[in-house]
Amino acid sequence: MCGIVGYVGKQQASTVVVDGLRRLEYRGYDSAGVAIVANGAIETRKKAGKLTNLEAEIIQTPLTPSHTAIGHTRWATHGAPNDVNAHPHVSEDGTIAVIHNGIIENFAYLRDELLASGVTLRSETDTEIVAHLLAAQMPASGNLADALRAVCQRLTGAFTLVAVQADTPDLVVAARRNSPLVVGRGNGENFLASDVAAFIAHTRQAIELGQDQIVEITPTSIVVTDFFGQPVDVTEYEVTWDASAAEKNGYDLFMLKEIAEQPKAVADTLIGRIDTDGKVKLDGLNLSDEYLQGIDKIIITACGTAYNSGLIAKYAIEHWTRVPCEVELASEFRYRDPILDASTLVIAISQSGETMDTLMAMRYAREQGAKVLAICNSNGSTIPRESDSVIYTIAGPEVAVASTKAFLTQIVACYLFAMYLAQVRGTAYGQPNEQIALELGRMSAKVDLVLDTSEGVRAIAKEFVNSPSVLFIGRSVGFPVALEGALKLKELAYMHAEGFAAGELKHGPIALLEDGVPVFVIVPPLGDELHDKIVSNIQEVRARGARTIVLAEEGDESINEFAHHIIRLPKCPALLQPLVSVVPLQVFACEMATVKGFDVDQPRNLAKSVTVE
Ligand code: G6P
Repeated sequence: MCGIVGYVGKQQASTVVVDGLRRLEYRGYDSAGVAIVANGAIETRKKAGKLTNLEAEIIQTPLTPSHTAIGHTRWATHGAPNDVNAHPHVSEDGTIAVIHNGIIENFAYLRDELLASGVTLRSETDTEIVAHLLAAQMPASGNLADALRAVCQRLTGAFTLVAVQADTPDLVVAARRNSPLVVGRGNGENFLASDVAAFIAHTRQAIELGQDQIVEITPTSIVVTDFFGQPVDVTEYEVTWDASAAEKNGYDLFMLKEIAEQPKAVADTLIGRIDTDGKVKLDGLNLSDEYLQGIDKIIITACGTAYNSGLIAKYAIEHWTRVPCEVELASEFRYRDPILDASTLVIAISQSGETMDTLMAMRYAREQGAKVLAICNSNGSTIPRESDSVIYTIAGPEVAVASTKAFLTQIVACYLFAMYLAQVRGTAYGQPNEQIALELGRMSAKVDLVLDTSEGVRAIAKEFVNSPSVLFIGRSVGFPVALEGALKLKELAYMHAEGFAAGELKHGPIALLEDGVPVFVIVPPLGDELHDKIVSNIQEVRARGARTIVLAEEGDESINEFAHHIIRLPKCPALLQPLVSVVPLQVFACEMATVKGFDVDQPRNLAKSVTVE
């Protein structure tokens, strides 16, 4: 959700902050704003719409030069995305400015209290009340950090709050509960942000704030305490990627760049994790063989695309390890009273490591005595920090809101874990681990090969640009691939799109078919037990007027006569096929949105990191 940046130091603060916001715009982009401290006063500029609107506003009405600034890009929760509701929000006396990510749940109660005390509210946001509460608290507390400590103790819900005060230049104060906040340590300058991407151009030294902590930054100091002012230990780490990894590098879109990076992301996620003898080793797994031998159930929990990767992982985990595996949407998980105990392993999959539903699901699982393994792409983020164990996906920063390379690496990481579990339990059922390891090692090159189909896929997208809906069908691991293909199209091209288990067609979805409806069919490799069944499904849909777009492996001629279009996939084992079959579906959605003139990297109403429930 919202992107937050704070800066103190020698540079022009508003420029540093707006540059940082640009790198965080994927988090939310319905309005943006900055506040600076200069000459004992606060100045703000804020604008509805994308960051460019704010930049234009600052050019038109320049800010006073300053070394202290905070900035925000918003994904609206309380109040419509307009200029007034945009952050920062300022206290009535104009001395304190605040930005916020999260939801303050006791907002209505606190608002009524403020109204009763005579405060006039200007916006509909929950954030504005914090500015007024801080101003009211200042006389008693005497300084901004103490005032923020006192106010935070009154707030419930999730929040990262960052504040500046007119009389204290060179100071930015922030608080964190359940929403992300990282500190960047520079030389004579320091940074605060929702994500290291905001300051990576200036420093790679980062400190992740824990729950219920307050940080005060000046150009030369970083002080972290709890909400009661007690000092806390912090862990500093070095970010392993540089600013260029979060740039477009010549591509028109982040999504195109990230699709193209998939062969590397798959290879990087495997590096150092499979020995020459095919044995899997997972540094940092931190789960003993004894524990893994004793688990009797796995529950995967995640949201969005990460959830779809979990649906695929289930097939491999159950097939290779014979441990029952359920996959549950994180937003549903803890509300259905799931059966969990110490012998249940919960796997939380999250690109960002900050998705609130996934975080709440894993916390619930731990409270019930289960251990949690995080599969995550963001070093030091909350989900891996709070998990018992972590396998990092090595996809590099993913900026486009629609997830691509993270999805492939999530599948790879889950498969590595499944192989490891089979190794530890001695249950390498089906194929021996060594064989799977060999095949997995070849997948990066195969993802590269399937990218060669992109031109043809783009032409197909143009043909169907006026179709009212697009259907996707698959069986076994092809079914979640169908779901992911449909999700991508909804997210980016705002089209009606549905993924179905091909076997379910005749139980309802087939009624949707009429002349010209495009249906993508994901065909398993030749020789797979489901191959011929899905060839029958292609005939069924074609007989009812559908235009069939068939994804089938090289050399599979059995589908030729039933396919209007064929997209060829490199040969690979059935369980590994999602790593190649999803790629043309990503390209299709990206092209469809481009042809329709939509913003591919920042689709309407969405955000990359959803830090509210
Ligand atoms: C949002 C994003 C999706 C993503 C989902 C889960 O909805 O738009 O692309 O799959 O969140 O995010 P996570 O960071 O937990 O993988």
